[in-house]
Amino acid sequence: MVSKKIVKLLNEQIALEADSSNVYLAMAAWAEANGWKGTSAFMHAQTEEERGHMKKFMHFLLEVGEQPVVAGMKDPQNTFKDIKEVFKLALAHERKVTASINDIMTEARKSNDYAVTAFLQWFISEQVEEEAAVVQVLDIIEKAGQVSIYLADKEIGAMRQGK
Ligand SMILES: [Fe+2]
Ligand SMILES: [Fe+2]
Repeated sequence: MVSKKIVKLLNEQIALEADSSNVYLAMAAWAEANGWKGTSAFMHAQTEEERGHMKKFMHFLLEVGEQPVVAGMKDPQNTFKDIKEVFKLALAHERKVTASINDIMTEARKSNDYAVTAFLQWFISEQVEEEAAVVQVLDIIEKAGQVSIYLADKEIGAMRQGK
């Protein structure tokens, strides 16, 4: 039997995964509306994944004989400065999710709840992957920024040619 405290934490995680799905859906919409097709495709895939995570938590609660609770959601951010801001916010969001999953793991270990511990292990690994993917995207954006500086430098060099 899963403790009341852990059931509460798992229900809060359901809300957080649903919120993640919503946050990324808004990012997908903004990216699509602004012609950033790659970012839109990334975020459309992400919104589905997060919904999958939410359902995994729901199924687990049902399997241990608890009814999952579906909560209301707050409005996500719908406008962004640029795609760099989108992914910076996505990284901050993933870090918040990681911290939340770690907190549930700490609680499960404290109460020697092996079933919850085993269930959460997949999410611990998933968060490592998710954070790494977003860090990788931010690196791509950073490098792309340097490409334009490189092109500008070439043009600066061309200004003095033949003088
Ligand atoms: Fe998630
Ligand atoms: Fe995620």
